[in-house]
Parts: sequence; structure tokens; C-alpha cells
Amino acid sequence: MISKAKEIEKEAIISVKEAAILINKKEAINTINILKETISKKDKVDKEEFIVAINSAKEEINSITSEKEAVSKKEVVNAFNKLAETIKNKDTANKEEAIRAINVLKEDISNISLDSAVKELTNLKIKYLGKKSELSLILKSVSKLEDSERKEVGKALNEIFKNVKDAFDVEFKKIKEKEIEQKIQLEKIDVTLPGKKVVIGEMHPISKVLNKINDIFISLGFSIVDGPEIETDYYNFEALNIPKDHPARNTQDTFYIAENLLLRSQTSPVQIHTMQNSKPPIKILSPGRVYRADATDATHSPVFHQVEGLLVDKNISMANLKAILELFIKKLYSNNVKVRFRPHHFPFTEPSAEMDISCFKCGGVGCPLCKYEGFIEVLGCGMVHENVLKNCNINPEVYSGFAFGLGLERIVMMLYGITDLRLFYENDMRFLKQF
Ligand code: DAH
Repeated sequence: MISKAKEIEKEAIISVKEAAILINKKEAINTINILKETISKKDKVDKEEFIVAINSAKEEINSITSEKEAVSKKEVVNAFNKLAETIKNKDTANKEEAIRAINVLKEDISNISLDSAVKELTNLKIKYLGKKSELSLILKSVSKLEDSERKEVGKALNEIFKNVKDAFDVEFKKIKEKEIEQKIQLEKIDVTLPGKKVVIGEMHPISKVLNKINDIFISLGFSIVDGPEIETDYYNFEALNIPKDHPARNTQDTFYIAENLLLRSQTSPVQIHTMQNSKPPIKILSPGRVYRADATDATHSPVFHQVEGLLVDKNISMANLKAILELFIKKLYSNNVKVRFRPHHFPFTEPSAEMDISCFKCGGVGCPLCKYEGFIEVLGCGMVHENVLKNCNINPEVYSGFAFGLGLERIVMMLYGITDLRLFYENDMRFLKQF
């Protein structure tokens, strides 16, 4: 019994070791490529010659020692044997057939993976240690032995069983580790590869110019304040001295959320919020989005930007308004720019004016940009209407102030010579990169 078991032990250990020998797959395929080349160079291939060539390629396989990108050597050799066998069984072999057979061999080997080595080991384990294996059967029959023999034979057989099991465990572990190692190799990240380029945009020309405007006013002591884009009718119109039937409402038609709730058509309501929430002296600048029920074209957009300015204090006059706005425009464009104030009407200022600047393209001579006027309108302004001050509980007998509002898009278009407003909102990098 024991000697039989020992025989099985020996056989099992040899086959498990054999099944677990790994060789580099690429090198194996390389030997086949060499074989194929040798065969291809020949004019004619006869059967004997081909078998000799296969055997010498198989020898080559035996000399591979590298275990990198490994597969089971036994499987590779099996594939060779299978090929040799088919050839042997044929009566003749010619060159075409030989090459076809080599291609099949190559394909077979390419398809081998470490998985198949694991499978092979598993099969062997079942064969040698499974419930129906010879060893198990021998082990079972121990119970039939005499008491005197049972203990010793049992011990020896258990040891043999354990040795075989250990041999399997060792090889399983080796292959599993190899598998993990190869997986890591396969999945490793090459940090030296060039990365994917993230396209970083440019600051939008509107933001660029707005930052410049903000800086100018901050340097003059103004604070930048924000206001809501959703307004009540009161803040957007009533408090600014634009009652329900006022014609100014026509040019400021906007989008309504409810009867008295709308998207602000101007930044002027920020004046009201500010004056209601703080006491003079007030010096604020309020840039932001505004909305109008306008169809989009080269000069109109349902959403655009305005910048509102407000200064309220004692003894503020048109002279202060003129001085500040002239200084602002010179800092924004150039010192050579001339300004002109034309009387105008706004419901929330009295008196009101529009400020024009000399055309920076023709210098005031007249050109298509300024429509041959020499001047271009840039903003609306005026002295804050006493009704507006009263609406905010500011005494017009004590305080006075000026306000102005400018369309940002227009300013940016003039600054850069942009002729179509829609370009601002299309996010086309070719356009945005130019500023
Ligand atoms: N809110 C005006 C508009 O949208 C622009 C404006 C004009 C604002 C005169 C002002 C101002 O503060 O004083 O047309």
C-alpha cells in the first residue's frame, strides 16, 4: 500500500511541477516565427524534413528560461506535439500545408494564457487528490487494516497525501502570484507618457473689460455691489419713477415670471436696493446681466450686461458727474478721447444726459464706425431724480447724487472693433483667443 502510494506521490509531484513550468510567450512565438521563416525559404518541404524542423523548434522551447509574460511550457510543448502528430499521420506534406500548420500552431500558442495553466493544475489536483483518486481510495482502505498496522500505515499515507497537497499549493501560489504580477505589468501607468491636453480658455473679453472698469472705479473709492436678476415691478420700474403707464416701459419690455415679478431690464434697481439699505455717502458700481424681450441680431440680445454707477452725498452736482465720467473714459480708452454730454431724458434722473466720446477710429473726423458723426454714444447719466431719492427715504433737500448706466457689450465692441454681438455668446475659441 505504502509503496504504491509513494509511486503516486512521485508521479504527482513530477506532473504538478511540469504543469507549473512557465516560459515567456513571446519567445515561444518567436521560435515559431523562425520555424516559419526557415520553411518559407525552402523550395520544397518533405514530411521528414518538416518533422525534424518542428522537433528542433521544440528543443528551442526547452531552452527558454525567461518567465516574463509567461505561459505554461507544457501547453506550448503540447501544441508542438499536436502539430507533429498531425504531420506524422499524413502521407505527404508540402510547403503550403506546412506553413498552414505552423500558422495554426502559432494561433494555438497565442491563445494560451496563465488561466490554462491554472486549469491544468486544477485537473491534476482532482486526478491525484480528488475523492475518486487512487490516493484517496488507498487512504480509505486503511480502515480495513488490522489495528496493529493501521496507525503506522495511516500516518505514512497521510504524510504522502500531505506532501502531494503541499506540492500543489506551492505551484498554485506561484502561478497566482505570477498572474497578479503580469496583471500589474499590464495595467501599470506610464507616467512619462504625454498627458491629455486640457484646453484652457481665455478670459472672456467682456470679463476683461469689466475687470478694467471695476478697477478704475475701485481706484476712485467706489464699491462693487451685486443685485438680484429677478426683480419685482416696483424695483425695476416704480421706484425708478417709471409708473405703469410710462412710455419708457415700451423700450424696456422684459420677461415676466409673474405679474409683478420679472427679469430685470436694467441694473438701475440696484440703486434702489443700495439707497434703501445704506445711508449717504454712497459710491457704488454695479455690473450685471440684464434682460430684454428682444430678438437676437448683430446688435441685440435678450441677455446682455450693464454697469450701473451711483454716487449720493451732500453738494453733488453735474460737475462731479462730468469729472468722474470723463476721468473714467480716459482711463478706459486713452487720454486723447474727448467727451460730449447731450441732453436726454431718463425717468429716474433730472436733468439727464447721454455721454458721447470722440470716435477712436477717426479721432472725430467722421467714419463708418461713428456713422460720420465724429462721436459715439457710450452711456446714459444724470442727477438722481428727487422722486427716486424720496422713494428711498433720502432727503433731496440735504442730499443729491448722480447716476449712470452703460451697456458693457457696446463698450467692448467699440474697444476691440467687434461688429457682431452674437460672437460674445458663441464660445468659439477662435474668437475668444484674440483678446
Ligand atoms: N438704465 C438705463 C437703461 O437701461 C441706463 C441708465 C441711464 C442708467 C441713466 C442710469 C442713468 O443710472 O442715470 O437704458
